[in-house]
Amino acid sequence: MYARIAGTGSHLPERVMTNKDLESLVDTSDQWIRERTGIAERRIAAEGETTCDLAEQAARKALDAAGLTGADIDLLIVGTTTPDLVFPSTACLLQHRLGAAECAAFDVNAACSGFIYAMSVADQFIRAGSASKVLVVGAETLTRMLDWNDRGTCVLFGDGAGAAVLVADSEPGILSTHIHANGGYGDLLCTEVGVSTGFKAEERGGVRVSMRGNEVFKVAVNTLGRIVDETLAANQLEKSDLDWLIPHQANLRIIKATAKKLNMSMDQVIVTVDKHGNTSAASVPLALDEAIRSGRVKRGEKLLLEAFGGGFTWGAALVVY
Ligand code: ACO
Repeated sequence: MYARIAGTGSHLPERVMTNKDLESLVDTSDQWIRERTGIAERRIAAEGETTCDLAEQAARKALDAAGLTGADIDLLIVGTTTPDLVFPSTACLLQHRLGAAECAAFDVNAACSGFIYAMSVADQFIRAGSASKVLVVGAETLTRMLDWNDRGTCVLFGDGAGAAVLVADSEPGILSTHIHANGGYGDLLCTEVGVSTGFKAEERGGVRVSMRGNEVFKVAVNTLGRIVDETLAANQLEKSDLDWLIPHQANLRIIKATAKKLNMSMDQVIVTVDKHGNTSAASVPLALDEAIRSGRVKRGEKLLLEAFGGGFTWGAALVVY
C-alpha cells in the first residue's frame, strides 16, 4: 500500500514585506539580500493571525482538492516550530476547526524539516494500514520569533502554510522517505530560551531565532548532498530519473548547489524563496502546491522533496505525483 498525494493547498498572509521595507529597519540592502539569498519579499502574519489560522486555510484547500472533508480524515499531523500555544497542539486546534471527528492529531517539531518529518510519519501509518486518509500540514509564523534588530536573521524568514492530503492507494505514491537529525549542531540555529529553560525579562520573554548563518550554510549544502544520494540509492534510481526537485526554500544558493549535485537544470527546480523567504516547515508544501496548481508538476512525474533545518534535522521524500 502506498501513500498517494490526493490534494494540496497553501495559504500566505496578505501583508508583503519587501527588501526595501527592511532597509528602513536594519543596515541592509535589497542588493545584499537578493545576491546572498535570492529573496525579494516575504509575507508577514497580521496581528492576531496565528499559525493555526494559516494552517486552516491551507488545509481546507487541500481537502477540497482531494474531494474530502475534515470528517474523512483519520490522522492529522502538523509540522510547526511556532505553535499557537504550548498545548493543545496546533494539530488539535486544527482538528476541531475542520471537524475531523476523533482522529489522532499531533504536532511534529523538526524546524524547517517539519513537513518532511510529518510526511514520513504519515507514510509509515498508511503503509502499516493504521490510517488511510491523512492530512499533513506545514505551518509557521516564524517572523514572530525574529529579532528585528538582527540583520543576519530578520531578512531571511516569512510566514505561511501548506498542506497535503495523503490517501492509501495500491498505485504509488510516496516511494520512500528518509529522515535524520544531529543534535550536536543544535547551537548553530536555535532559540536560547524556552518554557523549561526559563524566559528573560525582555520582549516576548527573550524568544528569538539565533543563527550562525555561515556555518549553517556549509553543513546544509553538504548534508543535502548526502540525503539526495541516500534517497536515489534506496530506490535504485539515477539522477536522470527525477522530473522535479522541490527543495526547502532557505537560500537560492543552497537550492542551486543541490540542483547541481543532481545534474538538474534550474527549469526542473521549484523556486518560491524569492517571494516567500524561508517559511520553515511551510516552505516545501507551499512550493509543492504552487508547482501542482500552476500545472508544472503533472500526475505520474517523480518529485524529490528535501529539507534541512534547526536541530539539525534533515530529510527527503521521493514521490510519484
Ligand atoms: N545585510 C547586509 N549585510 C549583512 C546582512 C544583511 N542582512 N547579514 C549579514 N551581513 C554581513 C555580515 O555582517 C558580514 O559582514 P562582515 O564581512 O563585515 O563581517 C557579511 O555580510 C557576510 O556575512 P556572512 O554571514 O558570511 O554571509 P553569507 O554569505 O554566509 O550569507 C546567510 C549569510 C544568507 C545567512 C547565509 O549564510 C545563509 O543563508 N545561511 C543558511 C541559513 C539557513 O539556511 N538557515 C535556515 C535553516 S532552516 C531552519 O531551520 C530555520
